[in-house]
Amino acid sequence: MIADLVLNNTKTYIKGEILECSIAIEEGKFIKIGRQPQMPNADQKINLHGMLVLPGLIDEHVHLRDEKKAYKEDFISGTAAAAAGGFTTVLDMPNNQPVTNNVEALKNRLDIAERRTLVNVGLYSEFPRNLTELPQISREGAIGFKLFMGNQVGGLNIDDDQALKNGFKTAGEVGTVVAVHAEDKNQIMFNEQQLKQTKHNSAKDFLSAHTEQTEVQAMKRVLKASEDSKTNLHFCHVTSQQGLETIKEAKKTGKKVTCEVTPNHLMLSSSDVALYGMMAIMMPPLRDKTHQEALLKGISQGDIDTIGSDHAPHTIEEKSASSVWEVKVGVPGLETALPLMLTLVRKNWLTFQRLVELFAEKPAEIYGLVSKGKIEEGKDADLTIIDYNQRWTVVAAEFKSKAKFSLYNGWEVVGKPVKTFVNGALIMDESEIVAKPGSGKIIRGGNKVSI
Ligand code: DOR
Ligand code: ZN
Ligand code: ZN
Repeated sequence: MIADLVLNNTKTYIKGEILECSIAIEEGKFIKIGRQPQMPNADQKINLHGMLVLPGLIDEHVHLRDEKKAYKEDFISGTAAAAAGGFTTVLDMPNNQPVTNNVEALKNRLDIAERRTLVNVGLYSEFPRNLTELPQISREGAIGFKLFMGNQVGGLNIDDDQALKNGFKTAGEVGTVVAVHAEDKNQIMFNEQQLKQTKHNSAKDFLSAHTEQTEVQAMKRVLKASEDSKTNLHFCHVTSQQGLETIKEAKKTGKKVTCEVTPNHLMLSSSDVALYGMMAIMMPPLRDKTHQEALLKGISQGDIDTIGSDHAPHTIEEKSASSVWEVKVGVPGLETALPLMLTLVRKNWLTFQRLVELFAEKPAEIYGLVSKGKIEEGKDADLTIIDYNQRWTVVAAEFKSKAKFSLYNGWEVVGKPVKTFVNGALIMDESEIVAKPGSGKIIRGGNKVSI
């Protein structure tokens, strides 16, 4: 038997341990993991010279844009950024133009993604206006449903508790995940109005509108509205100590609740808003150090389930408005998320085991990606190869993303993704994209329960 590829001389993360081994790959799957003499013959052999090999990392929160927002990012540039950043699978958010929240919009986006993606990609849908369409959107392949509570994006009226209840009930019946952006729209709008009236337009004023309470308030509403449903709730980008406490309490009730944090909220705090100004504006915003510390504890102790980059590309012009209320919210993150987290591993904030859980095992479990998240015979051959000791400087001008700015520009980091394999194919090699658009696969969620 001749395999497609054998990787030799690796240090591979398997079941909590780092093992010196070889990996054989055939038709996009791992077929053998073991010592070099046990490997089958192969068309191609690569010596990884003792590099660290992790299961292909999953970024379950990215905004790849494309369509009418392609000037900010498209599937090619966004998934090139993913591959360069060490991600083999990304899940794309639905606040697109047009909004991904009906069968036609989803089909169209799947079609574009299929031709352009370099890594595996799954697409979220927002809620449709008519909930009877939800099962069909799910069947068509939406990886999950996103609910923006901070502003009205999809078809579910976020001011109406009964509408939220109905939405969760339907999602629960279908067996799909609902990922929630928890910020209370009305509280934010009220705060914003007050600030605008008194001509408070600076970056710092954004934080006074998007308070911790707005996060907790939205979480509580969502938890209440989903109380009687079977929905798996996933809270995106938790930013506050109280928010994390609320989720911890909800988990104790036995409800299926998970949560994500972004590297931004782990690495930075509100003092960085003073430093970077409008560039550092994101939703939800950076918070005081006490919150940052609570989140760091949350990732090391296991209260936080996943890390999502919330890669949110915009143009420099969009980030440079003179009033904060005009600035586009969000920052790119795909090409810095992993090195930043590797830095936390080095500083003993988290173990390798936690890193792999947060970036691979847990997202695979939450989104039902059964063939991903682990290096095991029979699973998809997605791999992230890391030079753990490489010291390098983040240069945003060299990003593959169209958004060539970063809050980490000029930071010296240690640990670099040097190769990315997707379904057994080499996509990124030493920061170069070596595959063609369309090399990645679409990952479909589909109904877990047929209705
Ligand atoms: O910072 C953010 N950026 N928060 C969001 O909710 C949306 C995102 C974007 O799409 O730019
Ligand atoms: Zn969000
Ligand atoms: Zn987002």
